[in-house]
Amino acid sequence: MNYSNILINQEGSVATITINRPTKLNALNKATIEELHQAFKLADEDKTIRVIILTGSETKAFVAGADISEFADFDIKNGGELARKGQEILFNFIENLSTPVIAAINGFALGGGLELAMSAHFRVASSNAKMGLPEVSLGVIPGYGGTQRLPQLIGKGKAMELIMTAGMLNAEEALSYKLVNYVVEQEELLPFCHKLATKISYNSSTAIASAIKAINAGFKNDINGFESEIQEFGNCFGTPDFKEGTTAFLEKRKPKF
Ligand code: COA
Repeated sequence: MNYSNILINQEGSVATITINRPTKLNALNKATIEELHQAFKLADEDKTIRVIILTGSETKAFVAGADISEFADFDIKNGGELARKGQEILFNFIENLSTPVIAAINGFALGGGLELAMSAHFRVASSNAKMGLPEVSLGVIPGYGGTQRLPQLIGKGKAMELIMTAGMLNAEEALSYKLVNYVVEQEELLPFCHKLATKISYNSSTAIASAIKAINAGFKNDINGFESEIQEFGNCFGTPDFKEGTTAFLEKRKPKF
């Protein structure tokens, strides 16, 4: 697959998807959103890939938001369609992906950029990263899930404040808000995420996919999280990984998933 706005690299069982529009601070235009959808779909289908790292090119920005130049003349209908399609093909798509996704936030993650990072299963930031949802300063609100995922991650009061003020958190503040799991130096960001990804890759990918489903179910209104956990727990018993994991334990050896 040929892409114009993203780069893909695979090292062992870890794929890194890099948004690559540095002159526009990696802003998400329509073409980039579509390429990302395609790349995540193919990576998820590729059984040699067990973890995906998502990052931005160079050191200034992860993603500085949705590409403002593309929606400046939109009307009500266009605006609604933009949010609906983006949520469906990218933001919800990533959140519900079976393959774990780590966002490596290497600089500004603003608006759609922070929303993208929040769609990943968890986040690591470089010490120069800055995060915020500045949409109200443009007369709109976050439309790619930000009003839902930010309160889930940092709590309602802090999310209200951050969105209303259109403010930015630095990396240490984001860490203390639990928006990111770790802060590391810029040059350590990808190696650190790679180490985490490798640790994940030793575990059962089918069990991890079930865990993602069960955890996400707790944040959805139409599914009972506990019921989803029961279903997914049961499903694990029908997988080769369960047989291998339990057999390896009893044979006192490491499992080979
Ligand atoms: N959409 C489109 N283009 C963007 C963009 C976005 N969200 N964010 C940055 N860019 C472009 C700029 O227009 C500029 O392009 P140009 O050189 O062709 O003029 C280039 O990226 C560099 O950005 P610039 O603003 O010159 O860099 P800076 O260091 O002065 O400021 C930011 C960095 C992140 C503070 C600033 O770019 C910014 O506020 N961006 C918008 C953030 C935002 O509101 N995001 C939410 C969108 S809903």
